[in-house]
Amino acid sequence: MIMHKDIAVIILAAGEGKRMKSGLPKVLHKVAGRPMLDYVFEKVNKLKIKEKYLVVGYKAEELSGYKKEANIIVQKEQLGTGHAAEKVLPFFKKKAENVLILYGDMPLVSIQSLREFIEHHYKTKADLTVLTAEGERKSDFGRIIREPSGRVTKIVEAKDATCEQLNVKEVNTGIYCIRQSSLIEALPNLGYNNRQKEKYLTDVVEYLVGRGKNVQAKIIKDPYLALGINTRSDLAKVSRIIFQNYLEELMLSGVTVVSPETTFVETSVKIGKDTVILPYTVIQGNTNIGKDCIIGPFTRIVASKIGEKAEIQNSVVIESFIGKGSKCGPFAYLRPETRIGNYARIGDFVEIKKSRINDFSKVPHLSYIGDAEIGKHVNVGAGVITCNFDGVKKHQTFIEDDVYLGANTNLVAPVRLGRGSKTGAGSVVTKNVPSHSLAVGIPARIIKKIK
Ligand code: UD1
Ligand code: CA
Repeated sequence: MIMHKDIAVIILAAGEGKRMKSGLPKVLHKVAGRPMLDYVFEKVNKLKIKEKYLVVGYKAEELSGYKKEANIIVQKEQLGTGHAAEKVLPFFKKKAENVLILYGDMPLVSIQSLREFIEHHYKTKADLTVLTAEGERKSDFGRIIREPSGRVTKIVEAKDATCEQLNVKEVNTGIYCIRQSSLIEALPNLGYNNRQKEKYLTDVVEYLVGRGKNVQAKIIKDPYLALGINTRSDLAKVSRIIFQNYLEELMLSGVTVVSPETTFVETSVKIGKDTVILPYTVIQGNTNIGKDCIIGPFTRIVASKIGEKAEIQNSVVIESFIGKGSKCGPFAYLRPETRIGNYARIGDFVEIKKSRINDFSKVPHLSYIGDAEIGKHVNVGAGVITCNFDGVKKHQTFIEDDVYLGANTNLVAPVRLGRGSKTGAGSVVTKNVPSHSLAVGIPARIIKKIK
């Protein structure tokens, strides 16, 4: 059993990430839609570790949002991972006997593997345990050097390794659990004697082994979990793994994904049972899709809520709501704050912005609807447009229930069309139309009362 008050965590994230060739700190680059550092915090928080330190340096102010998550420690000059960890020492609260050290560029490592790792450290009463990975030779990872007896003696960085050492297949994942007292003892005593002239955290291993301390190496079961992100190519690789894993999870929960290779669903998205996701679909942000929907092909949905039995094809839906059984597309563009009711129909080449379209209404062809409130059972003819902008201000259009708008009606806002009213094809409506009236012409005049 891990006693979480016994353990503090240090997350190293001060590096620029030179290999990314970017103006953005590496740990803020998004992996499958979320900054890579978020994944690390998600795990640390699930482990319920309370004493948290985040070491920042390169463009430190851009990471200030994480002060809610951890004590932020600044490493002004990036002189190596050991130097970074050393910056935390004066801030320790003494209570924690052990310290978990993680790098901010490893979003894949699982909760389960971290738990097993920490438990191994406790069980073996180790002074230091390092998590290692075996498998294919990863060129820039530190190599784990063991004695013939199997005892770990040191970690050698790829840049400093001999050819023989480079052949070692066991590598350092960059995850450590160390007794706080050992960390405090070792770090100030490490040098900068290597090709990069940095203070390496990895040198703690050799230091402690030399002093007869208990140093353990635990091999991770799934080596892919240890993939670190150093380049944009790694970014793509890891994103892909996260997307594929999430699609697997969705499929297991009853969602059909016709083409996982061309489907990208962020882990923040929820999808109901028996919904079918067709190829070339991207679903992002805080999106919730009901059951029995058909989404795609070629659809992008961002931060939206989609009711059950809805169908959306070849469309873009941003920060909107679509009710139960409604159909959308092909080629619809729903911009933020659009609310479509139940059993409505939004057709082809239709753009809707900040508008509400209520149950059973139809906007089937070639329309722009902006800043409008459309009632129930309204039929919007082909080419109908809300003229919502007078060059200075946006104005509202209100269309009450059961209105029929003839093709190519222009609605010059602010304007209101009363319940059951009608417009003739090509009308330009500049004044309110009373209920059950017919309006035609340019600008439209009220001709007669209908019904
Ligand atoms: C490091 C390890 C290597 C391991 C690999 C696993 C060292 C010396 N090497 O190499 O053995 O196989 O990770 O992915 O530790 N950082 C700072 N301050 C610094 C330098 C780095 O905070 O001065 C942070 C970075 O932001 C990053 C992490 O430490 O999050 C790792 O640094 P990085 O340069 O990526 O180390 P690697 O070369 O990958
Ligand atoms: Ca790295």
